[in-house]
Amino acid sequence: MKITSLGHAGLKVETNNITLLVDPWLSPEGAFLASWFQYPSNEHLVTPALLQPTALAISHEHLDHLDPWFLAQVPPETPIIIPRYPSPILKQKITATGLKKIIEVPQWETVQLGEEISIFFVSEESPMNQDSAVVIVGDGEILLDLNDARLSVAQLCSIRTKVGGVIDVLALQGAGASWYPMCYEYSPERKQELSQRKRIAKFSYLERAIASVKPVTAIPFAGPPCFLDPELAAINSEMENGIFPDQQQVVDWLHHQGVHNTEILLPGDVFDVTQESKKADPIWSDFSFSDRNSYIENYAQQRTTHIANLKAHYPEPKKSLWEPFCEYFQSLLAMNSYFNQKIGMRVGFDITGAGGGKWAVDFRPGWEGVYNEIGECSYGYRFASRWLPPLLDGKLLWEDFFLSLRFVAWRNPDIYNDHLLGLLKFASPQSLQAVEDYENSIDAQQQITIHSEGQTYKVQRYCPHAGVDLQEVGEILPGGILRCLSHHYEFDLETGKCLNGKCKLLNTKRI
Ligand code: FES
Repeated sequence: MKITSLGHAGLKVETNNITLLVDPWLSPEGAFLASWFQYPSNEHLVTPALLQPTALAISHEHLDHLDPWFLAQVPPETPIIIPRYPSPILKQKITATGLKKIIEVPQWETVQLGEEISIFFVSEESPMNQDSAVVIVGDGEILLDLNDARLSVAQLCSIRTKVGGVIDVLALQGAGASWYPMCYEYSPERKQELSQRKRIAKFSYLERAIASVKPVTAIPFAGPPCFLDPELAAINSEMENGIFPDQQQVVDWLHHQGVHNTEILLPGDVFDVTQESKKADPIWSDFSFSDRNSYIENYAQQRTTHIANLKAHYPEPKKSLWEPFCEYFQSLLAMNSYFNQKIGMRVGFDITGAGGGKWAVDFRPGWEGVYNEIGECSYGYRFASRWLPPLLDGKLLWEDFFLSLRFVAWRNPDIYNDHLLGLLKFASPQSLQAVEDYENSIDAQQQITIHSEGQTYKVQRYCPHAGVDLQEVGEILPGGILRCLSHHYEFDLETGKCLNGKCKLLNTKRI
């Protein structure tokens, strides 16, 4: 089996008779409102042959994995294999590209492509995060493509068991895909501290995943993106010491931890799994990650027109957006009372420019409603009015917009509110119900014993946030704090209170 990097998280997997493309992202307009661009550029890979694969597989609906520009050019009858999620968004986005043969499979169920390749997906446990690993068996060799999915140790071990023990290649995301903390109103020092913390947390996850999977070769991929719009250029500094490390930095860090079985693939590089060897694309003979600034400067000049064209698609509104805003959020408020109660705060929207205003949506029981004044909010978003009409009419999804980083957010208290993002991103009764059912099914009775600061505690085994096994991913911090390494929520062992997120209490008892 041969694996060619298509840049970012895109892979071409080939056997003698089959070519399978996974998460190809090659649009010259980048993704997320021309905010993210492939780094380095993969434009030289767009050829007629690439547009004629045997099949495609798409792991999830983020636009750096599901590229409508690319999919619209593939013959409409090409099979496209996707995981089945509670939310219809992934399928809807693919249908809109004109592809007709969508094969939607439950996780763990294998799809056979001829005799040479089989594929299955494994999804994150909570339906709040609809991300999946893609497992491909080609010519008897195994690729585990983790992309953005954070699977538990138990899931990783189950994959190894299902495929017979040895994973030849583990491809895993080295850079985050997030707007936190860059878009939040923190002081520059605080922002830097939070960015570094997030970078280290990501690195630690990689190390743990590699230790669990024990692959023959580990390949960090799926980022970082680069930012070519001058309005966003400052975010490129996140590559330095923030949430977007480049592949070389990830590999250097892993080497420092004693993990040496790594490989870096640039767009067009081919990894022969049988030979365990790489054939580099000659286009990169002069490329170095250390020349980042000059590379990005030059690249930005080539994309100026694409960025301007994108913005021209979103003109400033000509009339007030208050009424459509009000109608939209009233229908969202009526969708799922469990979510309203979990959000439990007033959320402000400061929409700047023509047609905008300062408005609020209150999710607190007794206060529920949409208000024509912003008032005292615990959470707030500020962004230009040109982005609001497509958000309200569903042409632009909230999570795609947040990933564009074209907004500012603030919050007080400074804690995560998962359910707010969940409501905005899913906005469908069936998806919200799936999350509610899952969260209500988390077993709070099973216990584990934890020692901290000379005390012993009995605490619930499964994290109250998204049900991951704390026996695997619990970390004891100084000060009697238990951190769940799955999403980094921290709990006070004395009270069970979550210190950095809006989350149920952890059942805990000192003994
Ligand atoms: S499962 Fe998300 S923080 Fe524990």
